Amino acid sequence: MLDLTDIAQSLVAHGKGILAADESGDTADNKRLKPHGIEPSEENRRKFRDLLLATPGVEQYLTGVILYDETLHQSDDAGTPFAKSLSNKGIIPGIKVDEGLEPFPESPDETITKGLLGLPERLAEYKKTYDTGFTKWRAAIKIDGTRLPTAQAIHENAKRLAMYALEVQKAGMVPMVEPEMLLDGNHSRMRAKEVLTDVIGMLMQVMEEQAVDMSAIILKTSMVLSGKDSGHTDTPEEVAADTMSVLMDTVPIEVPGIVFLSGGQSPDQATTNLAAIAKLAKEMNAPWPLTFSYARALQEDALATWAGKDENIPAAREVFLERLKKVSAALT
Ligand code: 13P
Repeated sequence: MLDLTDIAQSLVAHGKGILAADESGDTADNKRLKPHGIEPSEENRRKFRDLLLATPGVEQYLTGVILYDETLHQSDDAGTPFAKSLSNKGIIPGIKVDEGLEPFPESPDETITKGLLGLPERLAEYKKTYDTGFTKWRAAIKIDGTRLPTAQAIHENAKRLAMYALEVQKAGMVPMVEPEMLLDGNHSRMRAKEVLTDVIGMLMQVMEEQAVDMSAIILKTSMVLSGKDSGHTDTPEEVAADTMSVLMDTVPIEVPGIVFLSGGQSPDQATTNLAAIAKLAKEMNAPWPLTFSYARALQEDALATWAGKDENIPAAREVFLERLKKVSAALT
């Protein structure tokens, strides 16, 4: 039987990465299907997942897929439950277990993440029924000048991530901890660097205080980028230098792996920035493997090609594989 560190290491195996396909029903409907003219429905959400997960050959590029609860209860076109068909291909099924964001009472422009209530029971069920190997919990950190984020919101989100991580390890799965720093806003890259340092620094400190096993987690992080309304486009080298500087300063060496979200970057940006980060990490002899755990940057072109039409599925799958190939090649 694999221990948690082995599972975490398999998730960041060299040259491969993780697909995030864990959009909630609302996000899948409003941000994935509708923008491409696809009618939101449970069946169309199933087809959207089938399009990606049943693409022949994905196992060459993916170690894991993060799923959403509804998808765990669904099956692919061949009638095999999605989690099972992934496991059959050697891909580890993961499950998003947070229950979304709510306003932080002490600073209502910011959010905290819900989902600790009843978590142990849900974790036991996922592991027993679907043999999930890892889980994800996402906090969202908003930047607004020097006003946000507040130290209290950073701390509260870190505490919840740590409590979640402990429960997941107790349940025999690897917690992916994701404090997403949002791209929204007109902040500079320097400000993003400062915020990400505070956020990851606090998260690592609280997890260590809570006795989370740091050798059995995966950190999922944003890259350091200028805000999307800043009018500034960072070069991949700038992104890599600042991102690696934050990670080297804050992440203990025993952490088995770090993965990136795409966060609203275009697929090409997310690919070239990852390539620059991977190159610099190698030059710096970074102590942990780094890879991708993208949703939008992997899915967008495939969804546009599919547009909800069955006859477009083969072409959409080709586009998806092509993107996976490019993102994986960025790691070498
Ligand atoms: P994006 O790559 O679209 O940012 O999504 C990754 C993710 O898992 C966000 O929680």
